[in-house]
Amino acid sequence: MEVKTSLLDNMIGVGDMVLLEPLSEDSFLENLKNRFDHSEIYTYIGSVVISMNPYRSLPIYTPDKVEEYRNRNFYELSPHIYALADEAYRSLRDQDKDQCILITGESGAGKTEASKLVMSYVAAVCGKGQEVNKVKEQLLQSNPVLEAFGNAKTVRNDNSSRFGKYMDIEFDFKGDPLGGVISNYLLEKSRVVKQPRGERNFHVFYQLLSGASDDTLKKLKLYRDFSKYNYLSLDSAVVNGLDDAANFRTVRNAMQIVGFMEDEVQSVLELVAAVLKLGNIEFKPESRCNGTDESRIKDKNDLKEMCELLGIEQSVLERAFSYRTVEAKMEKVSTTLNVAQAYYARDALAKNLYSRLFSWLVTRINESIKAQTKTRHKVMGVLDIYGFEIFEDNSFEQFIINYCNEKLQQIFIELTLREEQEEYVREGIEWTNIEYFNNAIICDLIENNQNGILAMLDEECLRPGTVTDETFLDKLNTVCAEHQHFESRLSKNSKFLNDHSLPHSCFRIQHYAGKVLYRVEGFVDKNNDLLYRDLSQAMYKANHSLIKQLFPEGNPAKVNLKRPPTAGFQFKASVGTLMRNLQTKNPNYIRCIKPNDKKASHIFTESLVRHQVRYLGLMENVRVRRAGYAFRQAYEPCLERYKMLCKRTWPHWRGPAREGVEVLMADLQVPAEEFSYGRSKIFIRNPRTLFFLEERRRQCLQDLATLIQKIYRGWKCRSQFLLLKQSQIVVAAWYRRYAQQKKYQRIKSATTVVQSYTRGWQARKLLRELKYQKRCEEAATTIAAYWHGTQARRELRRLKEEARRKHAVAVIWAYWQGLKVRREYRKYFRANAGKKIYDFTIQRILQKYFLGLKSTMPSMSPIDKNWPARPYLFLDGTHTELRRIFHLWRCKKYRSQFTEEKKAVYEEKLEASEIFKDKKALYPSSVSQPFKGDYLEISKNPKYQKLSSAMDEKVLLADVVNKINRANGKGTARIFLLTKKSVVLADQKTGQVKASVPLPDLTSVSVSTQSDGFFALKLKEGSASAVKGDFLLSSEHLIEIITKLHRIGATAADREQLNVDISDEFLVQFKQDKVCVKFIQGAPKNGNSVSCKRKNNRLLEVSVPSTA
Ligand SMILES: Nc1ncnc2c1ncn2[C@@H]1O[C@H](COP(=O)(O)OP(=O)(O)OP(=O)(O)O)[C@@H](O)[C@H]1O
Ligand SMILES: [Mg+2]
Repeated sequence: MEVKTSLLDNMIGVGDMVLLEPLSEDSFLENLKNRFDHSEIYTYIGSVVISMNPYRSLPIYTPDKVEEYRNRNFYELSPHIYALADEAYRSLRDQDKDQCILITGESGAGKTEASKLVMSYVAAVCGKGQEVNKVKEQLLQSNPVLEAFGNAKTVRNDNSSRFGKYMDIEFDFKGDPLGGVISNYLLEKSRVVKQPRGERNFHVFYQLLSGASDDTLKKLKLYRDFSKYNYLSLDSAVVNGLDDAANFRTVRNAMQIVGFMEDEVQSVLELVAAVLKLGNIEFKPESRCNGTDESRIKDKNDLKEMCELLGIEQSVLERAFSYRTVEAKMEKVSTTLNVAQAYYARDALAKNLYSRLFSWLVTRINESIKAQTKTRHKVMGVLDIYGFEIFEDNSFEQFIINYCNEKLQQIFIELTLREEQEEYVREGIEWTNIEYFNNAIICDLIENNQNGILAMLDEECLRPGTVTDETFLDKLNTVCAEHQHFESRLSKNSKFLNDHSLPHSCFRIQHYAGKVLYRVEGFVDKNNDLLYRDLSQAMYKANHSLIKQLFPEGNPAKVNLKRPPTAGFQFKASVGTLMRNLQTKNPNYIRCIKPNDKKASHIFTESLVRHQVRYLGLMENVRVRRAGYAFRQAYEPCLERYKMLCKRTWPHWRGPAREGVEVLMADLQVPAEEFSYGRSKIFIRNPRTLFFLEERRRQCLQDLATLIQKIYRGWKCRSQFLLLKQSQIVVAAWYRRYAQQKKYQRIKSATTVVQSYTRGWQARKLLRELKYQKRCEEAATTIAAYWHGTQARRELRRLKEEARRKHAVAVIWAYWQGLKVRREYRKYFRANAGKKIYDFTIQRILQKYFLGLKSTMPSMSPIDKNWPARPYLFLDGTHTELRRIFHLWRCKKYRSQFTEEKKAVYEEKLEASEIFKDKKALYPSSVSQPFKGDYLEISKNPKYQKLSSAMDEKVLLADVVNKINRANGKGTARIFLLTKKSVVLADQKTGQVKASVPLPDLTSVSVSTQSDGFFALKLKEGSASAVKGDFLLSSEHLIEIITKLHRIGATAADREQLNVDISDEFLVQFKQDKVCVKFIQGAPKNGNSVSCKRKNNRLLEVSVPSTA
């Protein structure tokens, strides 16, 4: 069940100032203080929220709080900024009313914090989803960016907004945010060049120098040291509780989320750096021949670096700081600037650069956050604008700011009254006129187009001739002298002639919030806001797209001789637009109050608060609100709250709520003039009536509590009694049961004893009778049994005889039938059965054979000789064939794994086998040796480089062989090279070619049958190579050499195949002689080596050790 609460519950003081009784400034302050001391920083005046700055974080902004205030009525819970945000958001979403939230208060009162709280509340309660969250994030992240560039530490606030901000958040029909538009008002640009004591420049300068990486600073030509820059005040450069470095990272991150491109961020930082550099440019006077002083730049280094940063030609800017060109009607006049004018120009440039950069940032953010759809939006505007300012020394800025506050006050009064009036009309209540101070007259004094102060100032600025702040004051003294809110010593109004609190160079305005003294010095200058055209043209010429964009008036193609609009004029126009915008929306007010000047928590400086209460017009606000009726409440909640005060409405009222309230009021005898019945609400004129109701309610609640207690106690005692009674019955029942059980047991056992005696007697009697009967029956049975036995045996004999006869008949019949059937079927059986049985048997045997073969298959190795034994003789042929097929198949499988090289090696081995197998005893030992071919690695070995390069063909075999000397049979080592075309013999040491025999000149090769390595290369008679005769050589790789030679012959198409003679005796042609080479088995004494000896002219004997 939902618990209905009210603002009136657990109130500290009064939550709504309208209920203050008696109403006076003192009681107002007392109530604020009381609440502030109890950490209640929010108080209502009707629907206006007063917010006291607590200067400490309170646990009242948690997600739980958001949930608590979500979708609750405004007066349902204790005052909170969330209640206002919720009310505004819900009436925007549900009633389609555009809203604006106006936050006012002096510097440091908590306006910016309040605006952020409102935005974060709305972000928390509105719709969710990827796209919506992105929009929310961008809207929220625009704050840190604008705060870095537009906020600064002042004596009044460490994070003071130095610009006015109005943000329109746009929602779709569901209440989901679509985007937003930000408008900025009058940045305090004078701060860029000069800061009051104890204050500092805009945060971004300090953030950049503390937080940027060394690399970034180097790129921007900056030092981390604040003291290096004239524009940065040093006395409060570091602010307690403000981490500039961390904030710099937050700002960069926020810029990224908002959608700034990396090069845009870089450009912005370059401009910030340029402003710092600009401040360091200093001037010195230089006398000219005509006696005047001309300014010159002292040290051009900063100017140079600044020009490099912004891509400006140094000489152009330098000239712009020394001369000023005035153009009038096709005429150009150049005058030199003195030192003071040069400093003025420098500062004007810095101020313009920075303020234009700030406006560009706002435009850029707007581009990112603007709503993407074109459908009609609902809008919630949040205005966080500088509050009323009264300093000791007030200048043009304060004048402008206070003017803005006058306008806001006016709109506040207008809208509050209008709302009040509208509510009365809506509710059908008679309207009573309310007296209030209308500040329209002050607004008129400032903004009137004919004789308003701003108009006078513009007129003075545009007037030809000498124009000074004094001439402006003179003008005011004549035009505004009669105005009742304008005061000046020299005005025609003689009242002030002797007012010494009013200096001659000042004028005073009686604002709605108090009197403010303005010093006219600087009014004309600040209103003109002049930037020499030479400077804007120099900026336009920059090779930097952002700078160019910021100074469009510097474009020589668009020279505009008209003066730019004055600062006052621009401000008036933008305030006018803002007011028109606000008037179309439903206003919600947050009035911020600063409790003390020390930025400290728990301190309530009464005089300071009193001052703010006065100038914010809060008392007036309460009076306006109370002028008609102090309190109003819808009928339902009113009846719900007070129904216990009347018997007829308690506990339930069945009819309409209004009638219930009427019954209630009549019953309570509240005087009729104290309240009125509206259409949906009851209006209570005096707070005391409400408090009377509340008091009665409190008493009644006490009585009710007593009643509830009484009933509860009665109920509790009765329940206790009933419980006891119930227990007693249960206990008694259990006891009775137990006693009866005992008694029953006794009776039962006595009965059993009596029963048992009786039964025993009866049983014995029966037994006797039965025994007699049994004996009689047994006698009869025995006689019958003997008789039946005789009968049965006689019958059995007869039946057995009969069965024997039947069986004999059946056997004879069966034999006869069998004989008949066999005779008939014998012919069929002989024709078919034999063949079928045979086929079946064969099939079965084959099946078994193949299945057996499958499981006993030998391995895939081609040299595996295993093969399962043949099971049946008749399968002999098949078995052998299968073995052959299997062997061929696995050979094929084995061969298919070979690479091309391996294949060639095997082919060579095969060829060697064909040539030598069973013919030469050396062959078996060569089988296991791989044919390496190039044993000398001739192409890699540097020793044979020359020899290798002399070969024009690929060397197929390179080895060292022995060339047998024909004279003594001794061997000389030679390099033997074989290519596709020739055989080459070369000196082993020098690598010099000794003989080269083209292969066509070889006719045959002779080798022995034994295990020696001798071979003779026989040459074609008559060929060029044959001149020296045949070669008798010996090699360890004889088999390989001969095989390769033979192979080349076999593959060459143009040659005959080389013959290989294998015999133990062959002839070798040495020059002219033919010598027989004979191989004999060596005697054991010759050892294991082969020896060759010349026996005679015709015989060379080679003894080969026996291999056996
Ligand atoms: N609700 C709050 N809870 C805690 N601290 C607060 C709250 N409101 C304001 N403050 C503190 O007061 C300081 C000043 O508040 P804020 O910057 O909002 O003032 P302001 O009214 O915007 O001033 P200015 O006009 O100078 O911009 C904040 O920095 C914060 O420390
Ligand atoms: Mg602020």
